[in-house]
Amino acid sequence: MTRATLPIILTGDRPTGPLHLGHFVGSLRNRVAYQHDYRQFIMLADAQALTDNMEDTGKVHRNVLEVALDYLAVGIDPAISTILIQSQIPELAELTFYYLNLVTVARLERNPTVKEEIRLRGFERDIPAGFLTYPASQAADITAFKATLVPVGDDQVPMIEQTNEIVRKFNRLAQREILVEAKALVPALGRLPGIDGKAKMSKSLGNTINLGASADEIRAAVKQVYTDPLHLRVDDPGHLEGNVAFIYLDAFDPDQEGLAGLKERYVRGGVGDSLVKKRLEGVLQEMLAPVRARREAFAQDPGAVMQMLKDGTFKARDVAARTADEVRAALGLRYF
Ligand code: TRP
Repeated sequence: MTRATLPIILTGDRPTGPLHLGHFVGSLRNRVAYQHDYRQFIMLADAQALTDNMEDTGKVHRNVLEVALDYLAVGIDPAISTILIQSQIPELAELTFYYLNLVTVARLERNPTVKEEIRLRGFERDIPAGFLTYPASQAADITAFKATLVPVGDDQVPMIEQTNEIVRKFNRLAQREILVEAKALVPALGRLPGIDGKAKMSKSLGNTINLGASADEIRAAVKQVYTDPLHLRVDDPGHLEGNVAFIYLDAFDPDQEGLAGLKERYVRGGVGDSLVKKRLEGVLQEMLAPVRARREAFAQDPGAVMQMLKDGTFKARDVAARTADEVRAALGLRYF
């Protein structure tokens, strides 16, 4: 069997900070699981990260290595998955330039993810044009590799929808099926809340547990995990809805049967939050200890990691360049 015939995954992250449990649930777990049955390309989207980080390009540069270490730590295997650096593949910028003519400003403004991110960043009327248009760049990322599957968190679904609109428009104009539509692979569980109970775990909200967290950091974070504000005494009946300790246990506890029993007793009354948190801490420590150990081992040799990224980027560029050739030809941009 040759891996070259496998269907293709393209996915990625903006390297602006360490990856956390939200990333793990949202997409990393799927990427690790699917890498055997797909030819997977994982992109460090440094150019996309610049769309709102032009004042801090150093942060993006530093986090390329950090996020690569996170990938390796959770079990992305560079022997079968290709990790690449977006900015080093100029064909992606080229495709973006063409695709921008296949979307309207109004459609970009309606993209729910872009809309929400603009609100969060407080851009108001001063939206960088590169930021508003990054869905076209994401379409370039996905289509350059002819990916059919994109493992991402649910917040990225509008990006895949917009990509597919571009694909359909392009193919209609080209009168040939040059580009390929992709499907989002979103975890059934939905998004992971932050330790503070806010709907989303996110670095900017400061409510994360990072994949590289130390044992002490994990312990401190579990102490802060939001539970049930009505559950004051051990004997009080507890509530599971919005209870972050149980949401995390649902996501990570390998003993789901034992967990079901604990939930029953918690709801009835008689189980204190401290017991629940003790279980949660045990589960997280056990899950993250090997991740941290692998991360530290890879971090010993950053040169080897950068070489791996160089090889991956080189391989990926070859794929993207082929698609760019086809796209150029379809647009009548082949002259010689
Ligand atoms: N927009 C994604 C994020 O913010 C990162 C990303 C860039 C991406 N290009 C992609 C994700 C292509 C999936 C496919 O996390």
